[in-house]
Amino acid sequence: MPGISIFAFVPHRSLFTLCENRPPALTSQLTANSPALTCYSSFRVSTLSIATAKEVFDLLRDDLAAIEQEFLKQSASPVEVVTDIAQYLMSGGGKRIRPLLLLLSAKSLGCTTHSRIRLGAVVEMLHTATLVHDDIIDEADTRRGRPSSNTTWGNAKCVLAGDWLYMQSFSTALEERNFRVLDLLISLTQQMVEGELLQMQKLGHLINEEEYFDLIYRKTACLFSVSMQLGAAISHTDPAIESQLGEYGRNLGLAFQIVDDVLDLTAAEEVLGKPAASDLREGKATLAVIHALERGTGADREAIRTVLADRSFATVSHPAILEVLNRHGSLAYAMDTACAYAEAARLSIADLPDSEAKRALLWVPGFVTTRDR
Ligand code: IPE
Ligand code: IPE
Ligand code: MG
Ligand code: MG
Repeated sequence: MPGISIFAFVPHRSLFTLCENRPPALTSQLTANSPALTCYSSFRVSTLSIATAKEVFDLLRDDLAAIEQEFLKQSASPVEVVTDIAQYLMSGGGKRIRPLLLLLSAKSLGCTTHSRIRLGAVVEMLHTATLVHDDIIDEADTRRGRPSSNTTWGNAKCVLAGDWLYMQSFSTALEERNFRVLDLLISLTQQMVEGELLQMQKLGHLINEEEYFDLIYRKTACLFSVSMQLGAAISHTDPAIESQLGEYGRNLGLAFQIVDDVLDLTAAEEVLGKPAASDLREGKATLAVIHALERGTGADREAIRTVLADRSFATVSHPAILEVLNRHGSLAYAMDTACAYAEAARLSIADLPDSEAKRALLWVPGFVTTRDR
């Protein structure tokens, strides 16, 4: 296992504590501006118990280790710098949540072929390529607790290494000889690139919730959704089941990015392993900030606008922004919204037959909403 894995982050608090004690009506009220989130609060997923982190680890340990080996094998290039960059990122750790989802999706449908290992490596390679490019675009200097690859090798080499990793992930996926797999991966990559471009166009501007959800679907939730769909595609399952699993991934991915954006505002760089408070400094308005902009006083709005326009905390400090966000309940609003999507993810797989993999899929949303990095 890598140095940092999903299993290093077992939440200290019990599952769903962040979602507990919220009035049921809140779910629909909170998400009035959010896409396709039904309020299911009066329904039960099933009587199936949620797996523990240890059970999930025991279920997936061998497969995740095999995916690491596959990634290592696939990241070897005759050009040394490509291998160095790929292996530097790989050995830096990461939660491996996308391969985990692919494995659970495949397992929930009884797939035991090598395809799940190969495609697990494909989604992690693709994710790694997006991180290489994202850190260049965001001018980030740390990733996974170490200097980011662009800081170490420079932008020019990293752009090309990222391209190589994208192509290597496609070439590995091609070994499946499955057009559905390619179809999913190609449209995913286009969505992700479009997401980054749209985000760039909106830097420094005030965006609304609809625009925010469109962006986070493209840049993050789409890969979560495709990881789940790939598990179904290699299990040759019914399209209706593939679509439910994809819906689980989409809801979970939206929750994941909302939490990432809250952590960016509230967590310390030493814990995150990547720059903290960077979104505002990059001119990105995320959910809590959008909420405060809609509800704040004139002075509050002006303070946020100043940071977004200056792309710095030189005039208005980070604690001053946090004070505005707390005063309007904006951080709690964003976490509530993430919890609502996490709950929607669990409900998306209500029809799946009971299995160990389904119990594990019910565990993941709680992990996502209670993580600290
Ligand atoms: C980081 O993803 C990029 C986002 C979509 C927020 P992760 O938080 O999964 O990064 P690693 O792989 O664990 O480092
Ligand atoms: C995720 O957004 C972008 C990717 C899909 C790589 P962020 O820019 O918030 O990701 P981090 O915070 O740098 O990991
Ligand atoms: Mg970034
Ligand atoms: Mg982020």
